Amino acid sequence: MLVQEEVQAGKILTELREARAESDRLFQMLTPEAMYQRPIAQRHRVLFYLGHLDGFDAIQICREGLGMKLSDPNLDDLFQAGIDPDSSHLPTDTPADWPTPPQVRAYVDRCRVQVDENLDLAPRDVVLMALEHRQMHLETLAYMFHNLAHEYKVQPVQDGPETASARPDETHSWIEIPEGAAVLGQPRDASFGWDNEFDELHQNVAAFRVQRFPVTNGEYLRFVRQGAAMPHFWHSHNSELFYRGMFEDIPLPLDWPVSVTQLEAEAYAKFAGGRLLSEAEFHRAAYGTPSRESREYPWGAAAPSPKFGNFDSKSWDPEPVYSKAAGASAFGVSQLVGNGWEWTNTPFAPLPGFVARSSYPGYSTNFFDGEHFVMKGGSARTSARLLRRSFRNWFRPDYPYVYSKVRCVQG
Ligand code: AVJ
Ligand code: FE
Repeated sequence: MLVQEEVQAGKILTELREARAESDRLFQMLTPEAMYQRPIAQRHRVLFYLGHLDGFDAIQICREGLGMKLSDPNLDDLFQAGIDPDSSHLPTDTPADWPTPPQVRAYVDRCRVQVDENLDLAPRDVVLMALEHRQMHLETLAYMFHNLAHEYKVQPVQDGPETASARPDETHSWIEIPEGAAVLGQPRDASFGWDNEFDELHQNVAAFRVQRFPVTNGEYLRFVRQGAAMPHFWHSHNSELFYRGMFEDIPLPLDWPVSVTQLEAEAYAKFAGGRLLSEAEFHRAAYGTPSRESREYPWGAAAPSPKFGNFDSKSWDPEPVYSKAAGASAFGVSQLVGNGWEWTNTPFAPLPGFVARSSYPGYSTNFFDGEHFVMKGGSARTSARLLRRSFRNWFRPDYPYVYSKVRCVQG
């Protein structure tokens, strides 16, 4: 093995250990009663996710990757995959349909032993898939646990101090993006990607105008005052508005990005005299430059770090939309990556050259149904690795739980 590859492999193992520790910490925030709760009506009970993360690793690494026999095929089937029903076909299982938490923990331990014994033999791609799958679920778990009543959770450590952000004079500025190239996807070279990130696609994007900052709670409030429904993350008490935080409710922070569904985002954009960006327009605004070059990240080629954006689980919360100016794109558009997944108006669909992965054929294909929309960029709870340009997220347009944000365009 080349030295470079060994260094890489060591780094992947460290990340895998860290992701496991992080998922363990997330479950440890919960009281025992939380295990059988179903914080999101369209998803499984909390207990499913405890088994799912390590069941997935064992299935992909040992069974699919190395052709081994696993010791708990029934539990593997139970924990293999999550669900995404539309809102008229919600799950109806009862707690008695599930094994007990100690039984699930024992299954997790067995999976980890088998995975660890065979990790060295597994192809690098398969290990990266397991790692990124767990990292995606660190975010799923965060926004899912967000919807548990506060009494089911204990805050592990205090958030760091909030970074002060100077509010610029011009808060509603629009930025002209000239016609030019956008690069979606990635080429089939050595880098890891999920099936929906291939092949690379160069698109010409017509000129448009885009809001420099994401839409704030304060801006969205004007829409609510005109009769729009309250966003899922808000509630009102004695005619005061609050943000439902992970561990407590706080007076609604007016300069945080508003988190709404794609349908609400579309309606707001119309109200504000614009529309949502397409996936290609997001790429153009975020990674395009006045020359023909495309950047790796909005801020350039440097690896993600906290000065560029609110991501990688440094905080439970969004930040004011004016923060992290160093993360702005070549065109000066702020916070495209981090502080909330940005809704697009593009239905999730394969790029030209798409091939499903044979060991996990449903990862994307189950969602190429015109009923899911692409989200880009990442939230406070998105792992650094998933902030790469080609990574694509997607949800149903009426799904209110994900940490989202909105930006309007014109043209
Ligand atoms: C890519 C975030 C939409 O959470 O449904 C996790 C990721 N897929 N396990 C999801 C995923 C299977 C997926 N998203
Ligand atoms: Fe999963």
